[in-house]
Amino acid sequence: MKKRYTLEQKRWDSPAEHAMPEHTRVPARFNIGRVEIAPATVLAPMAGVTDTVFRRFIKNASMFSAASDPAASLATDLGAPHLDSEMWGAQVRATTTNQQSGCGLIMTEFTSADGLSRMRESKRKRYLTYYDDEHPISAQLFGSNPETLAESARICEEAGFDIVDLNLGCPAKRVVACNGGSGLLRDLPLIQVIFKAVRAAVSIPFTVKFRMGWNDKNIVCVELAKLAEDCGLNAVALHARTREDGYTGQARWEYIAAVKDAVRIPVIGNGDIRTPEDAAAMVDATHCDAVMIGRAAPANPWIFRQIAQYTATKEGTGVGTYDIPTDADRYRIIRTYFAMLVEEIAVEERAEAARAEAITASGQVAREQRNRDCVGKMKQFASWFTHGVPGGSGLRKAIFEAKNGAAVIDSVEAFFERRAEVEAAPDAAVEPAAEPDAILA
Ligand SMILES: Cc1cc2nc3c(=O)[nH]c(=O)nc-3n(C[C@H](O)[C@H](O)[C@H](O)COP(=O)(O)O)c2cc1C
Repeated sequence: MKKRYTLEQKRWDSPAEHAMPEHTRVPARFNIGRVEIAPATVLAPMAGVTDTVFRRFIKNASMFSAASDPAASLATDLGAPHLDSEMWGAQVRATTTNQQSGCGLIMTEFTSADGLSRMRESKRKRYLTYYDDEHPISAQLFGSNPETLAESARICEEAGFDIVDLNLGCPAKRVVACNGGSGLLRDLPLIQVIFKAVRAAVSIPFTVKFRMGWNDKNIVCVELAKLAEDCGLNAVALHARTREDGYTGQARWEYIAAVKDAVRIPVIGNGDIRTPEDAAAMVDATHCDAVMIGRAAPANPWIFRQIAQYTATKEGTGVGTYDIPTDADRYRIIRTYFAMLVEEIAVEERAEAARAEAITASGQVAREQRNRDCVGKMKQFASWFTHGVPGGSGLRKAIFEAKNGAAVIDSVEAFFERRAEVEAAPDAAVEPAAEPDAILA
C-alpha cells in the first residue's frame, strides 16, 4: 500500500526565521466547549504516527528525561509526581499529567467515517482504542457523507472521546477523490450540511481542522471559520497552507491571524512550529488561542515540555530557556518507546486470549502483521530520534538492516554504549575502529 505521508517527503522546505517576540507566550489554557485544555498546546493528528502508543509516549515524554542540573533546570520539576501547579504562575496550570508533558490535547489519526460506521463492534473498539491517561482526547473523522459522519461522531462520543474533529485538510489523492479531507474545501454548502448534521448528533464539543483553501484562487478559511462558528462548532484549527501547497513553502500565519480576527470561538494555529520560540512567535503574530504541533513531535518528543519550560522561565525571568536532550535522554526515550510498542502488542494478545478467540489462520496472519508493524515503527522512530546525533547515520543504516525487534534494540544499545565510551575516553574516537558508524555498518 502506498504511504499517505512520510516525514521525509513533507519536510520544511525553506523555513523562514520568525522574529522572536518579546513578551508573548503560549497561553496557560483555553477551552473547547466545556473541555479545558491546559496548557494550550495540541499534538496534531498524524496518520501512521499518532496511534495510542505514540500519543501516550508524547504525553509522558518528560518523565523519561533526566535533568542534567536540577537546580538550573525545570526538568525535574516537570517530571516530578508531586507537582505544585502554583509554581507555574498564571501561565501554565493544568492536570499533573499534562504539566509533565506540556501537551494539553492529543488527537487520533484520521479515521474514515464510512469505515467506522460499517465496522463490526469488536473491530471498532480496537480501532478507537485509547487509554484513560489520554484524556482529554479528540477523535478525528474524515468523509463527505453528512449522515455517515454524524453516525460516526455518535460512535466516538459513545466511546468516551472528549471532542470530535472533522478533517478538511488531508491532501491525499485517495481521500480527495472521495470528496473527503481538503477535497471538501471546494464545496462550502456541503460543509454546512455536514457541520449541522454532526452538531445535532453529538453533545461533546465539535471542532474542524482545515487548510486555507484548495489553492490560492480559492482561499476560504475565513468564510469557513465563520460558518463553523454559526453552526455551533466549538473551535477551529488552521494548517496555514492550501491543498495545492501540500507541505511546500512556509505556512502563512497571516491567515491564522485573519481567522482569529473573524471569529469568537478559539482558533488553534498550525504549521511549521519547530521550536518553543516558533510557538511563541506564532501566538505573537496571530493571537491564536493555542498552538498545534505535528512533524516536530516525532523528531523531538520533548517539544511540548520545552515549550512549557520556555513559557515558565520566560514568566519568571523574562528569558525563555529549555533543556536540550542529552544522549542519555535520547537513549532512554528510544528504549521507552520500543518497550511501549512491545507492551501494546502483548496487551492486544492478552485481550484476544481473554475474549477466548481461537487462533485461526487469519488471526495468526494478523499477529505476524502486528509484529512486522511494530518493527517498522521501531525503525521509523529510531531514525527520526537520531537525526542530529553524531554518527546517527550509521545507526540508521544498522536499524534498517535489522531483521527483527531484538536486532533493532541491539543496534540502539551498541550505538549508545559506544557513544558513552567515546565520551568517557575522547582520544579513542580518533581510532577508525572507535567510530560508531564503523561499528554499526
Ligand atoms: C505523517 C503525517 C500524517 C498526517 N496525518 C494527518 C491526519 O491524519 N489528519 C490531519 O488533520 N492532518 C494530518 N497531517 C497534517 C498535520 O496534522 C499538520 O497539519 C501538518 O503536519 C502541519 O503541521 P506541522 O508543520 O507542525 O507538521 C499529517 C501530517 C504528517 C506529516
